[in-house]
Amino acid sequence: MKNLFFCAAVLLMGACTAQPPKSSEKPATPVEMSEHIQLTTPDSVGGTSINEALAARRSWREYSAEKLSLEELSGVLWAAAGINRADGKLTAPSALALYPIRVYALFEEGIYRYDARTMSLDRVVEGDHRIAAGRQPFVEQAPLNLIYVADLQAYEGKEMPLQQIINLCGMDAAGYAENVNLYTAGHGLRSITRGSADAEELLRLLQLDPERYRFILAQTVGK
Ligand SMILES: Cc1cc2nc3c(=O)[nH]c(=O)nc-3n(C[C@H](O)[C@H](O)[C@H](O)COP(=O)(O)O)c2cc1C
Repeated sequence: MKNLFFCAAVLLMGACTAQPPKSSEKPATPVEMSEHIQLTTPDSVGGTSINEALAARRSWREYSAEKLSLEELSGVLWAAAGINRADGKLTAPSALALYPIRVYALFEEGIYRYDARTMSLDRVVEGDHRIAAGRQPFVEQAPLNLIYVADLQAYEGKEMPLQQIINLCGMDAAGYAENVNLYTAGHGLRSITRGSADAEELLRLLQLDPERYRFILAQTVGK
């Protein structure tokens, strides 16, 4: 009887301390790089604990060319700017809840815009333009670079100096990027927040009016 209790206790402890599945054990659907990429709903119980992710977070400057799976890509974008509540607000906070930040994803196959509402990516530019996302060599090696661009029109009607608006946009984008850094740290992926990119070239490629849009931050993501 005593043994039975012991076995039950060991089994229970095992269940309580069970580690989350390693990324290799998760579904890993290849991403079909068509004009429209439908992302998957993020798994609400995935990844390590937030404390483990915080302990693992660091900036990575070495990446393999290995592509992210559809599940990984979906998770990264959801972490950056996914809707996490019924009122449509996002995983990241935003000053005055104005959400001026637009998220673009640069792949070897093109530049895509993230749409949080439809949880999808739409190609806006064809071809490999990762070099515009930064001159550091790993930027072109990594499968994914995110670009955070502010739409200043989100502040229309707010009596605020331009510099203050830009500062707030920077803080918004930093929140998006740090969500991604914690997501990658907690899911066996790598990332780095970067301030350096060819801002002019990016806006030109995206056909965005520099009067209205500002490049704010870049981020490399991969393995
Ligand atoms: C706003 C911002 C911009 C950054 N820009 C770059 C960059 O352009 N290139 C780079 O290699 N690292 C960049 N970093 C990463 C920092 O160098 C890095 O966070 C710092 O060295 C501390 O290392 P850790 O992130 O591993 O803790 C940036 C970080 C932040 C927060």
